[in-house]
Amino acid sequence: MPGFWKRLFRPKKGDDIFCAAVVPAAGSASRMEGQDKILAPMGEWPVLLHTLKALEASAYIREIVVVTREDQIVPVSQLCRDCALGKVSKVVVGGPDRTHSVLNGVREVSSRAGLIAIHDGARPLVTAEIIDEAILQASACGAAAPAVPVKETVKLASGGRVEHTPDRSALFVVQTPQVFDADLIRGALGKAAEEGAALTDDCSAVERLGIPVTLTRGSYENIKITTPVDLAIGEAILNWRDAR
Ligand code: CTP
Ligand code: MG
Repeated sequence: MPGFWKRLFRPKKGDDIFCAAVVPAAGSASRMEGQDKILAPMGEWPVLLHTLKALEASAYIREIVVVTREDQIVPVSQLCRDCALGKVSKVVVGGPDRTHSVLNGVREVSSRAGLIAIHDGARPLVTAEIIDEAILQASACGAAAPAVPVKETVKLASGGRVEHTPDRSALFVVQTPQVFDADLIRGALGKAAEEGAALTDDCSAVERLGIPVTLTRGSYENIKITTPVDLAIGEAILNWRDAR
């Protein structure tokens, strides 16, 4: 851990943890073949409702800021009201890319939050264990995210030609919630946006400052709805959980 970060960061005890969740849900779902994914039904509820209920169930999460597209502000706000999601404090409009959407949300988090958990709206099957483990780890070290080992062999390729086969035992798929010290992630995302860095997750904003991120236990069930088949896989996971 770089010395300056160690001096700035003070670990917190469980009872003192005030974690805010920021839920980016403002994307255009371009890989869904024309289907919306945030409000798409999965089992009994829309995808976003599964996500928000899972976050509400964590005792460490005290408030939730939902980030959505301008054209979905009304239905998303209505969903939060109708389903009595008491921890949702704000629904705000996102930006042109994920980093700007998350920044818009992070800026709306109350000043009491010492930790911020950033969780994809499109990741509805997250569990309390995954959320709480990432929060506790971040409260101890400043930056943590759940991950699972890569199951298949990954190739680095260019123009259809393989350039390199990385050692699979060192590869992990990172998930969300990614949890950070609030000041750290505000600064890291602000800098990344200012410098026009193209990021696909929030850990990357912290990594580019040279600050370490700890991986916690994720789950192969904690999928992100990305292409149409993921809705079918999500429903199958819900049924599988019901039958256990
Ligand atoms: N997201 C966001 N604002 C953006 C882009 C993405 O809030 N400008 C959110 C998405 O709504 C999603 C999460 O970030 O919950 C993860 O992004 P991804 O799965 O890539 O969703 P989309 O960007 O919507 O999908 P695609 O990349 O296929 O267009
Ligand atoms: Mg995207």
